[in-house]
Amino acid sequence: MTFSSSILSRHQLWPRPRLHRLLSDAWTNGCAAPSRCLSTDGPSLHPVIGENSVELLGHSYPRDDFTNVTPKILGKVGRHLHNQPYHPLWLIKERIKAHFYSSYIGRWGNPVFSVHDNLSPVVTVEQNFDSLLIPADHPSRKPGDNYYLNRTTMLRAHTSAHQRELVRSGLDAFLLAGDVYRRDEIDASHYPVFHQMEGVRLFSNHELFSKVPNGEDLSLFERGGRRTPHKQESHTLEAVKLVEFDLKQTLTRLVTHLFGSDVDVRWVDCYFPFTHPSFELEVRFQGDWMEVLGCGVMEQELLNSAGAGNKLGWAFGLGLERLAMILYSIPDIRLFWSRDERFLKQFRVEDVQQPICFQPLSKYPPLLNDISFWLPESFTENDFYELVRTVGGDLVEKVTLVDDFTHPK
Ligand code: PHE
Repeated sequence: MTFSSSILSRHQLWPRPRLHRLLSDAWTNGCAAPSRCLSTDGPSLHPVIGENSVELLGHSYPRDDFTNVTPKILGKVGRHLHNQPYHPLWLIKERIKAHFYSSYIGRWGNPVFSVHDNLSPVVTVEQNFDSLLIPADHPSRKPGDNYYLNRTTMLRAHTSAHQRELVRSGLDAFLLAGDVYRRDEIDASHYPVFHQMEGVRLFSNHELFSKVPNGEDLSLFERGGRRTPHKQESHTLEAVKLVEFDLKQTLTRLVTHLFGSDVDVRWVDCYFPFTHPSFELEVRFQGDWMEVLGCGVMEQELLNSAGAGNKLGWAFGLGLERLAMILYSIPDIRLFWSRDERFLKQFRVEDVQQPICFQPLSKYPPLLNDISFWLPESFTENDFYELVRTVGGDLVEKVTLVDDFTHPK
């Protein structure tokens, strides 16, 4: 009988009655092909940085003294990791969507939150900064921190860039997922492209106070009020406290849904130009507190400019990579860009809620090797596995029998 075996299983060549050394054979016969080479996806419209213009996603942007995008970064635009089924960022997005769809149901059985995940990352500087009341001299506008196509157009630095347009379009409650771009060092936890999920919810007087006893006597707004650490000048304290409570409850429920009820969280006061009061939510992970989101009560001036001046609202923005790294034990942010099957296949689960614990990849490229040999009568399969272990040690991931043959004579 001939026993043929394939490491990482590959279609079988005709059995060669010879025992090959498993690993050295793989190196010398040239079958070490990283799966990367086989990939065909990616942006269909190739970005070009020309002498006078930048071509991106079918548009042409004239260059000026602000232009600082690089071919490398434009190569990421259009990868849509958050929209690729079974990518870990997609999994997190789907889990968050499912949670919001099932927990917040409107009067007619409709989901309260709509979900948007396909807005272009190319935005105006006005959208990214001015619409959010970020002052003209604010340090976050520095070319050193952002990717500008030119003085008026940039790759969004946060999903908040779309708050005003979505509120203006009439939405009262929405989630928005997208890729965001910030010039940054590259290491295990920093990458110049990452993904955020923005959430916004607005409340009319009736929505906010309808469940409060004598709520019809309460108002959202007051004249002549003062801005304090707890509220904006135009808001009543009772309205703000209810919005803040709803915001914190919504996010605590989300984090508990994702991490389980044992998770340790804490709220930290902070500052954003487009929310007041503002908070960060931190989650304790392996003994350290990790910031996972920023949020707050939306600045009324923003809502006024978006045509929703009769409502109060909250907003949050959370980092999808941060959540995925904690939830799936992914040790390095660069892995999200991997096209290596050994990474991607670990996330192909039947149910998006299924727990996944990422198993680190070998630093070696994947190798396939087929061998075949004649066997003595007394052979048992375990003898062979034993031999493979002795020669290959832990480098051998899998051994499968793909064919056998018994000579008629
Ligand atoms: N856009 C903020 C950031 O990227 C997060 C945020 C969103 C804060 C919404 C408040 C409200 O850091």
